[in-house]
Amino acid sequence: MDAIRVRGGNRLKGRIVVGGAKNAALPLLAATLLSDGESRLRNVPRLRDVGTLGALLEVLGRVVTIDKDTVTVGLSSEGSGVEAPYDLVRQMRASVLVLGPLVARFGNAKVSLPGGCAIGARPIDQHLKGLECLGARISVEHGYVLAEANRLVGAEIVFDLPTVTGTENLMMAAALAKGRSTLVNCAREPEVEELGRALNKMGARVSGAGTAVIHVDGSDELLPLDHAVMPDRIEAGTFMAAVGAAGGEIILDGAPLEELEPVVAKFRQAGVEIERHGSDITIGRHGPLKSVDATTAPHPGFPTDMQAQLMAMMCRAEGRAVLTETIFENRFMHVPELQRMGARIEIRHNTALVEGVLGLSGAAVMATDLRASASLVVAGLVAEGDTLVRRVYHLDRGYETIEKKLGGVGADVKRVRAEGNP
Ligand code: EPU
Repeated sequence: MDAIRVRGGNRLKGRIVVGGAKNAALPLLAATLLSDGESRLRNVPRLRDVGTLGALLEVLGRVVTIDKDTVTVGLSSEGSGVEAPYDLVRQMRASVLVLGPLVARFGNAKVSLPGGCAIGARPIDQHLKGLECLGARISVEHGYVLAEANRLVGAEIVFDLPTVTGTENLMMAAALAKGRSTLVNCAREPEVEELGRALNKMGARVSGAGTAVIHVDGSDELLPLDHAVMPDRIEAGTFMAAVGAAGGEIILDGAPLEELEPVVAKFRQAGVEIERHGSDITIGRHGPLKSVDATTAPHPGFPTDMQAQLMAMMCRAEGRAVLTETIFENRFMHVPELQRMGARIEIRHNTALVEGVLGLSGAAVMATDLRASASLVVAGLVAEGDTLVRRVYHLDRGYETIEKKLGGVGADVKRVRAEGNP
């Protein structure tokens, strides 16, 4: 079983190219189901989650070809399937993104319920309620969602809370519904906006994506998609946290600064220098790291996907940081691992009180979810000695060769074989 070994103490210097966004690529891959023609996505990151959605599209009767950063999706000669099996959905919750396209395109879908995951219960009631508003008949049997409709009909859908994949599922479903749909209280994440742009390229009529109210005028048919995936703001933010923790100066090539505004503002307060020079973004930290407080919130608030990395950075900051998680009920799984490295963190309900310490010490730690794993790598960069991050498959879900990217800017990070159990 692979592990990542981080030897702390090096300041970072050099250039990192930011890859395509995982959380944009996944809904775009699902959107290819809306058309029978051959779709092509460029700047797709080579990640385990992308492979999982590719495998799911193949089960659904598509031929998926991956060539470097380009993924082509076409129809197979065997025709379409409408069942997303448990074995794939349990590996990645975002598999539920095929539900909207399948029921809109084929009038029929059978998608496994994803179940809970390491960061929380994560229900999909809003996805199902939205599809019902569009006229789908939904039932749950033997762990599967069954959805049926002759043709979906446009309607008003009011989400009880902003959900990213829920908004995306309903945008895709509404794109092939008859008439106009109005989606209210939508997630405003940049990846939702990206899906709106992509659907419009397919001939859909989506307006307002990226705001709380989205209008979709349904089409009878959509064209195949040809699109380059936007850069990954969370990957970029993770490298900003790496510089914040380790010190030094790097250039982040292609970092989407506007989409990262809530993170950039917080990191600047903490003493991280972030400057734009043309298309290059320079990230540096030369002075001391100061404690900052943060509360996660839907976009444009501070992203939950950056909470763990900020916490790793705060472990070495001067003073006390108060970090509150409001999106997922169980997203502090990295805390006991950081504590094993000497961090002083106290948890009170959904708040972590992080008291900066002078030094962390390398230890064997266990990755529990994707962003938690990234935080352990960030902490390892400043720890004295070796940190061995096990269960590295979590990292591979969302970071493309993180060891090479960090190694390229002077960090001592290697993928190694770990003895014993994962
Ligand atoms: N929720 C419900 N009912 C629903 C849907 C969501 O109660 O029907 C709740 C969730 O339990 C959670 C909140 O609403 O408390 C927000 O969840 P959301 O649906 O927005 O999350 P998601 O769509 O499942 C996406 C990202 C996550 C990211 C969250 C929040 C993708 C593929 N995943 O998940 O990314 O943390 O939005 O921004 O876009 C990651 O990349 O590591 C990751 C977990």
